[in-house]
Amino acid sequence: TSNQMWGGRFAAGPDAIMEAINASIGFDQRMAAQDIAGSRAHAAMLGATGIVSPSDVEAIRKGLLTVLSEIETGQFQFSTALEDIHMNVESRLTEVIGAPAGRLHTARSRNDQVATDFRLWVRDQLDATDAGLVALMKALLTQAEVGAGWVMPGFTHLQTAQPVTWGHHMMAYVEMFARDLSRVRDARKRMNESPLGAAALAGTSFPIDRHMTAEALGFDRPMANSLDAVSDRDFALEFLSTASICAMHLSRFAEELVIWSSAQFRFVTLSDRFSTGSSIMPQKKNPDAAELIRAKIGRIFGANVALMMVMKGLPLAYSKDMQEDKEQVFDAADNLMLALAAMEGMVKDMSANRESLERAAASGFSTATDLADWLVRILDLPFRQAHHITGALVALAEKKGCDLPDLTLADMQGVHEGITDAVFEVLGVHNSVASRLSYGGTAPTRVREQVARWQELLG
Ligand code: ARG
Repeated sequence: TSNQMWGGRFAAGPDAIMEAINASIGFDQRMAAQDIAGSRAHAAMLGATGIVSPSDVEAIRKGLLTVLSEIETGQFQFSTALEDIHMNVESRLTEVIGAPAGRLHTARSRNDQVATDFRLWVRDQLDATDAGLVALMKALLTQAEVGAGWVMPGFTHLQTAQPVTWGHHMMAYVEMFARDLSRVRDARKRMNESPLGAAALAGTSFPIDRHMTAEALGFDRPMANSLDAVSDRDFALEFLSTASICAMHLSRFAEELVIWSSAQFRFVTLSDRFSTGSSIMPQKKNPDAAELIRAKIGRIFGANVALMMVMKGLPLAYSKDMQEDKEQVFDAADNLMLALAAMEGMVKDMSANRESLERAAASGFSTATDLADWLVRILDLPFRQAHHITGALVALAEKKGCDLPDLTLADMQGVHEGITDAVFEVLGVHNSVASRLSYGGTAPTRVREQVARWQELLG
């Protein structure tokens, strides 16, 4: 038998394979609440404009609430034959209220309907991402506040570079996640326009009020071009690319946690709650959550690329290709939320090992730059010459198998006779970080200023 929604011109129903490739109900049922919200706004508008009678609108309103509660309580029977969430809901509405249900689709198409539902869904995800990022930033701020003065090695090329503070390192991620947050908020602002009322592609001859439905659904305004409204999925792509950049940040931090929690580093201890064991090696405590967060960028960026490929080359307006937008976005959103929550949990629970950090900070000639700077200041040497002298001191220490502070004054004066006792002060890691007072620098005072600034911003 042919389809009850569009079967007028069809003599036969679809092949089973046709039904299988065509149906989206398996995944788009996640937009049920959005679909019903959109239909309620549309029905109310049809009533207000006199397009549908008040009694029919009231029947539709009540019926939609019944259908919603059936879905929410798990009683709803989703049907693949009915393709998607839109037709599943409308079909059930017909069963519940009868004839008036047939008026709901006046001045509407599934094309503007799906664009509306999906925008509402993505908007909710942007809000959830916003909240997840704020929670993670707060957890990082707590770490930064506690360890604002704790010294650790800063790396370039993963080789010891200069001492930095634990707080400074945590605050670097606060800045990154803050930019992710501002991207989320930008995206939300840009996408918050209503496609509803664009109908199939050309608008409608009914005297609809698109401003009314836009406002009812929390949109800032109706979209200005009906072709654009049903054709583009840039809002979904913007969510995916924002999610990708955020996942990239999460992945870098996760990688650091994997390295830092190893026996060789011992910079942090991850909590039991966010670690797993090995079924053969009894000593193991693995940073699985961090590893999985590190991996999530793969599928999230994959979703971004996949949807970009789906959309490229599609002529205006709607093509069924666009049904492939949802699974990518759902999967990326689910995994981004998991990654954010897992990272927040790990950061809240983890403890930095202050002694290991400090020991590591003092090794690897980490204060060589301080020494060179000191030679410039005390002996008024050009920086290049000071760099050379310091290099010779590093080579000497390496030969003796010790670190810079372990050299004797005589050793040092053998390289440059102008060096005095005062040198040992600049070789200390605490003095090193305390001296980095330039704006944005690692000095504990500067870090505390930034912590206070962000605490105020985040409330
Ligand atoms: N399930 C479809 C989708 O997700 C809804 C829109 C169908 N529109 C159409 N003209 N067939 O894109």
